[in-house]
Amino acid sequence: MESLLDDYSKYLSVYEMLLANSAEHRCMKEFVHTKLPEVLASIGKGEPTLNMMGVGSGSGEIELEILKVMHEKHPDAKVNNEVVEPSECMLKKYNALLSKTPGLEHVTFHWNKMTATEFENDWKKNNSDRKMHFINMIQMLYYVEDPEATISFYRSLLQKGGKILLILLAGETAWARLIKKFQDQICKKGFAQSVNTSDIKRFLESKNIPYQNYKLRSLTDITECFTPGDLKGDRLLDLLTEVVEFRKTASPKLRDEVLEFLKQPENSQTVNGRILFDCSTEALLIDA
Ligand SMILES: C[S@@+](CC[C@H](N)C(=O)[O-])C[C@H]1O[C@@H](n2cnc3c(N)ncnc32)[C@H](O)[C@@H]1O
Repeated sequence: MESLLDDYSKYLSVYEMLLANSAEHRCMKEFVHTKLPEVLASIGKGEPTLNMMGVGSGSGEIELEILKVMHEKHPDAKVNNEVVEPSECMLKKYNALLSKTPGLEHVTFHWNKMTATEFENDWKKNNSDRKMHFINMIQMLYYVEDPEATISFYRSLLQKGGKILLILLAGETAWARLIKKFQDQICKKGFAQSVNTSDIKRFLESKNIPYQNYKLRSLTDITECFTPGDLKGDRLLDLLTEVVEFRKTASPKLRDEVLEFLKQPENSQTVNGRILFDCSTEALLIDA
């Protein structure tokens, strides 16, 4: 079976389908506007310039909301925002959204079309000693080879009092359990895509790194996954298993086991005849 992560443009289009069928981004925006304001208000008080960063910023939908809240809390500060994002297509979408978003004239954007690791290598080569007030890493740690080393590097860039906002699949959600359960059969070995917040919390605790956590509950409508030949259902199945054409390429036994898992009452609920699968995420605010 071919990993969906090897076909980047396909992956991104399927991910957008997930966003359209779930409350993922709505929950994240709600978090940004309800829980984050107090946190952002406490960072960089009275400083004329605030340094922000997004790693795997995607189309900027969540990042621009964070920048808006930062401005509400620090209306007189200028902001430098480093965008670290390897996908040209995502950067184009980010720019298109930015051009339609008023009120961010105080922000200078620095575009880095590169992966988190490439940015890290660049930063070290340039001996940069600039420090960040706030870094977001939202739904992106699945794509780095060493999530713990990535957190450690980006945390080393924080100012005293700065924070990293990390959002990933929550460890106890059905999707995280699906991936762990079938990992050896469906995922490429040695890749970190099965990482979730339980793994990260264990790591942070082992290093005595303080963090706060917030659950972001989100269900995805997977009803069509149970209709063979349904295009949308098949693509959602690809995303959930991280396999290209899962229905066609998996053995009948594996396919049936995965479908059975998706339907079990502890993994999904039926509301008005629709099957809703638990894809909740969790936000971790990591201290400097
Ligand atoms: C699931 S999307 C999340 C986008 C955005 N943070 C959001 O929540 O809407 C994952 C993003 O990580 C980016 N990405 C993939 N591999 C990466 C890497 N090695 N380093 C940094 N970003 C990466 C992808 O291009 C994509 O934009």
